[in-house]
Amino acid sequence: MDHLTVVDHPLVQHKLTIMRDAATSTGEFRRLLREISQLLAYEVTRELPMTTKTIQTPMVEMEAPTLAGRKLALVSILRAGNGLLDGMLELVPSARVGFVGLYRDEETLEPVQYYFKAPGELDERLVIAVDPMLATGNSSAAAIDLLKEKGAKNIRFLCLLAAPEGVARMKEAHPDVPIVTASLDERLNEKGYILPGLGDAGDRMFGTQ
Ligand code: URA
Repeated sequence: MDHLTVVDHPLVQHKLTIMRDAATSTGEFRRLLREISQLLAYEVTRELPMTTKTIQTPMVEMEAPTLAGRKLALVSILRAGNGLLDGMLELVPSARVGFVGLYRDEETLEPVQYYFKAPGELDERLVIAVDPMLATGNSSAAAIDLLKEKGAKNIRFLCLLAAPEGVARMKEAHPDVPIVTASLDERLNEKGYILPGLGDAGDRMFGTQ
């Protein structure tokens, strides 16, 4: 998989435009995020390994394709990651789920871990880390560090919007982790928000400020 994949499917782009619009309500934003997450999940799981199993249709016996290996691990980077996670779990209900909680130290500006829980056998799973906004890339890179320390070897990063700064940071820190996104936006502003962006993803999805 390429280091960066922008999913330019018309349905994804149409839904994203509505999500960007400041007039879109919290409920609508959340619903669209769930729908988009399923379309993005389709793309990020495209190369999952397959095997076959013997089944009996009402007509004949056949060797039918089925997913191979351990269940996927989806890892939500709190709290906005949960918005992508919910939709993905509807599509892959048997996936194992992990959570990474990081906050930014206001003095050092470095991400600090406050929560980390991951499924076992991470080394044998495709691990998909999810966070709607790849902004500076600092917390995303730190989350991937944690997953690698836990043994993850095959990791992908799924986001809704990516800034060029975040993509560059991830490429430098984790060149082996492909990124799948709905849009590569223009840049970050001085406060680390993505432009044109959609504002604070967590606030828009949870109705906080
Ligand atoms: N996180 C957000 O929620 N929005 C941004 O624009 C950047 C980081």
